[in-house]
Amino acid sequence: MKIQILLFSITAWLYASCTTIDTTQPETGLLTKNAMVVSAHSLASEAGKQALLAGGNAFDAAVATHFTLAVVYPQAGNLGGGGFAVYRLNDGEIGTLDFREKAPLAATKNMYQDSTGQVVPNKSLVGHLAVGVPGSVDGLLKIHEKYGLLPLATILQPAIDLAKNGHAINKTLAKELNRFKTTFLQVNQRQTPYSKEENWNQGDTLINQDLAKTLTAIRDYGRSGFYKGWVAASIISESKKGHGLLTQADLNRYESKWRKPLVGTYKNHKIITMPPPSAGGITLLQMLQGSEFYDLEKSGYNTSETIHKMIEIERRAYADRSTYLGDPAFVEMPLDRLLSTAYNQSKFSNIDPSLATPSSQIKEGQVEVIESMETTHFSILDQAGNAIAITTTLNSYFGSKVVVQGAGFFLNNEMDDFSAKPGVPNQFGLISTAANAIEPEKRMLSSMTPTIVEKEGKIKMVLGTPGGSTIITSVYQTILNTIDHQMTMQQAVNAPKFHSQWLPDKVYFEQGKFDQPLLDSIASLGHQIEFRKALGKLECIMVHKDGSIEGAPDITRNESVAAGF
Ligand code: GLY
Repeated sequence: MKIQILLFSITAWLYASCTTIDTTQPETGLLTKNAMVVSAHSLASEAGKQALLAGGNAFDAAVATHFTLAVVYPQAGNLGGGGFAVYRLNDGEIGTLDFREKAPLAATKNMYQDSTGQVVPNKSLVGHLAVGVPGSVDGLLKIHEKYGLLPLATILQPAIDLAKNGHAINKTLAKELNRFKTTFLQVNQRQTPYSKEENWNQGDTLINQDLAKTLTAIRDYGRSGFYKGWVAASIISESKKGHGLLTQADLNRYESKWRKPLVGTYKNHKIITMPPPSAGGITLLQMLQGSEFYDLEKSGYNTSETIHKMIEIERRAYADRSTYLGDPAFVEMPLDRLLSTAYNQSKFSNIDPSLATPSSQIKEGQVEVIESMETTHFSILDQAGNAIAITTTLNSYFGSKVVVQGAGFFLNNEMDDFSAKPGVPNQFGLISTAANAIEPEKRMLSSMTPTIVEKEGKIKMVLGTPGGSTIITSVYQTILNTIDHQMTMQQAVNAPKFHSQWLPDKVYFEQGKFDQPLLDSIASLGHQIEFRKALGKLECIMVHKDGSIEGAPDITRNESVAAGF
């Protein structure tokens, strides 16, 4: 039974009670006794916290956080995208919700190829044809319907107020809005609420009355407020303008799906994570199984020996990702085999400690990767001990860059996560096979890895990050940093990351974060090293032995914030 709570005004409490991390003490995150919300934006974390203080649970807080991110973090927070949730109730029940986008009914296998069979650059990335059927609104409302305590009106009001009255944009959003200013105009052929003549500056107020109206329709009519009525009509009319494929039938038929979580272990910890159509969970569990064949604790944190073994483990796991995985409604996947000890022993226990294995020996191919850090993640633990990890995305920053006219939100470009042609890389440099080919109503393969870690029957961590193909390796390294190298949550989040994804046969290291002698030693084993400005934006929670809760936002890579009490 839902507790009836009066609508509360956002603006007063948002600014009055905002709890932020002290960046002068980055070794430990925000410590609280009762509850925690960690997200990519202070206003979103605060909206989640206020839902908890108003008598809500982790699921109410997730809805408040998600819809607020759609307003204040439009790069990746969304109504027009999709995502995955992994949760654990305080009685030990675990579950996941898949609200991944789907290919429209009219989608075809070769829709991004020209008449000669060549993939047309950017066709699956920018503009109306890149859009999959949005899943986020259905997903978040399902979560609320099943587990929420507060009225929807209460938890949506902060997002509505922020869209209607505006919010002072942070430095990151100002920079990204300016970066894509010309593209927004080219794609939409008009000014949108996200554009203005001059450049945006930090502190400028972004008001989006259209988005406030859409959120109000969702508040008043639930799912029908988005998938039917004027919002649905606006989505379809927008899609038609740019020769997109979305129809009312697509919106009617969209359904998020409850799925059984994937559960594995690593050194007496239980790892609860996302099954396909995300490749994240299975690849993470394979890498953790592979790590059990080596004593990475003994070989030491960020030594050449440890990093070499982890690169080799990552390389081998990503080869399977590319080959076998897709939407379970369309593809038979050998999940039991991929997770069996015998299979993983044969796959991971043969690492040569003194030599890199060329990726071509694992599988053939040669592709390039493009740096990309889109998507967003938030983690929540409530005062009753319920936890939820949600990773949600428009795919690229601002998705397809298409803004639904009159409704004020971006549509995703998730179609690029399909294989436009077997063997041809997507924006993350990931290649896949027929398992991830485009088919009507199929869900595209993802790397999103929302994860919960238990120890001795209790929640130990709630984890996740954006970062496209690098998501899985960032979550993997964060888990190893805490379990093998006894880091605090904040240390593990801050820790420099590296990434190998089988192809291209390269290892990406965060620039300026690894000593040159260490890099020289790794290169001497045969690894080809390249640099990335940043890998991941982890938003994580850890419960310590004394019961204190540590919220660890990725303050070194983003303007993320932990809010708790
Ligand atoms: N769009 C990124 C992912 O789903 O992995």
